[in-house]
Amino acid sequence: MGRVHSASLPSACVKFTSATTGNSRRLRVCMTASIFVEERPKNSGELEQVDSDTTLILKSQPAFVRARQIAKLTGLRLLVIDIETHEVLGKTDPTTLEVLPEKIKRHLRRIDSVWVVEQTSGLVFYAIPLPQAFGKVTLGIGYVLSNSDARPHAITLAAAQRDWSQQRLDEWFSKQVPCSPSIVERLLKLADGRVETDSQMSLLSEEINELGTQLDHALAEICLERIPGLIPSEGCAIRIDDAYGEAIYLSTADMPIDKSEAAALIARFEEQIGSRPLVKNDLDGTLLGTDFPKLKSIVMVPIIEGSHRIGWLIDCNINNQQGYRTVEVSLLNSVASILGTHRCNLDLYLQHEELLISFVHSLVSTLDAKDPYTRDHSERVARFARRIGQQMKLPFDDLQDIYLAGLLHDVGKVGIDDRILRKKECLTDDEFAQIKQHPVIGHRIVSGLTNLKKTLPGIRSHHERIDGLGYPDGLKGDEIPMMARILSVADSYDAMLSSRTYRKGMSIEKVESILTDGAGTQWDSRVVDAYFSCRNAIARISQQYKSVDV
Ligand SMILES: [Fe+2]
Repeated sequence: MGRVHSASLPSACVKFTSATTGNSRRLRVCMTASIFVEERPKNSGELEQVDSDTTLILKSQPAFVRARQIAKLTGLRLLVIDIETHEVLGKTDPTTLEVLPEKIKRHLRRIDSVWVVEQTSGLVFYAIPLPQAFGKVTLGIGYVLSNSDARPHAITLAAAQRDWSQQRLDEWFSKQVPCSPSIVERLLKLADGRVETDSQMSLLSEEINELGTQLDHALAEICLERIPGLIPSEGCAIRIDDAYGEAIYLSTADMPIDKSEAAALIARFEEQIGSRPLVKNDLDGTLLGTDFPKLKSIVMVPIIEGSHRIGWLIDCNINNQQGYRTVEVSLLNSVASILGTHRCNLDLYLQHEELLISFVHSLVSTLDAKDPYTRDHSERVARFARRIGQQMKLPFDDLQDIYLAGLLHDVGKVGIDDRILRKKECLTDDEFAQIKQHPVIGHRIVSGLTNLKKTLPGIRSHHERIDGLGYPDGLKGDEIPMMARILSVADSYDAMLSSRTYRKGMSIEKVESILTDGAGTQWDSRVVDAYFSCRNAIARISQQYKSVDV
């Protein structure tokens, strides 16, 4: 079904049959390390006979990707050629006849932008620079008929060389759509700009997706960094509002108007602009230009989340004679859409997190009913641990998991006899052995909850010790998950400070002295160090979430 025109490239053909599809497939391995693949159904005929009208191209080569994008946007066919050898490396339409007059070939090396020429023969040739393919400098080149009556000799000659019948050639001519050189040029320029914009936008989208759940502020910063590379304007600003008014205002360094002027602009147009961008070019001599003398042109794009406008993207003073064109406005609109969508995703994420946390709270409240000591203890441990983790510069997602693990660390106590949990006297060995089962019971309870599985290491191992004398698994040093090492410090700190019915809580000095002495044996020294680096913040949390009835 396919054929690669690679006569000048040393190559070897290999045939194999797919075990899964039963199809035979031939690989042509070129010495330039390029691999062309063609596939045809089993028993479809002589495999070594290649059809000269079709070319399958390696999809990942940027030159072919770009050629296909341009062909799709314009409806124009392109041959991808090596500008040195004029070899055809691929086609966007396998039925394209290869017509490339010597006069055109001589001109190819000088083409560095969209190029169109009309020949007296009735053909309009066009070319557009493409990215490299297989290390070769490439050009996309093609032709259309300039009028429906034209029957260019070059076409009939190429068809004859391919042994086309007269009927096939007539059909081919009947399907051609004639086009003037100016329309071809306009189509190609628009498509070229659009493809460039799309590739920049997909890069921006990738960066934004990597941001995950970070705040609007980080997202707005990235957008502002990227927009000047996409649009040659003087400045750009992003304002995002919350329920109480302006929440974020960021602008590029050279933004010609300041924050209050931007606010005045927004106030002036916010009733008039619905969900569509406002574009004002040539402001000199206009009322708006008089009120805002630093503005020569402006685009204001509302940032929409769902059905609500949550902010504005403003771009000022584009540096080209035509002012803001469709391509720039559509780019800014896309950036605003990304900002709106991200906010929407962030809200959904936060809603999901809130749902999860409220579920965990309700799970923990079951335990609170059994053991009054744990009331508020879980919340404090969760907050201490998260603060220590923050001090250790752990990623945001890990801090959330540590917080949830802190809330759940003792949830296994729901499986322990109430009389043991509430006992004021010293525990017997057997009772203590039962208490020591709570990390395993907690692990068993939570392991069935998919959304909470990241908390399991903390729940199971928060009573392990660095010297291996902890429980339930007797893990040592780095065998103990970091989440558990942090929870262990947070849990012990709160336990030592808290008063119980049978003993008074220790002083902070005593607690810190025990932590210092136990660093490296009971607790991880780095975690203890992190605690001391944020001890004031931990003390504030302790005060804030102090139990009143224990
Ligand atoms: Fe515990």
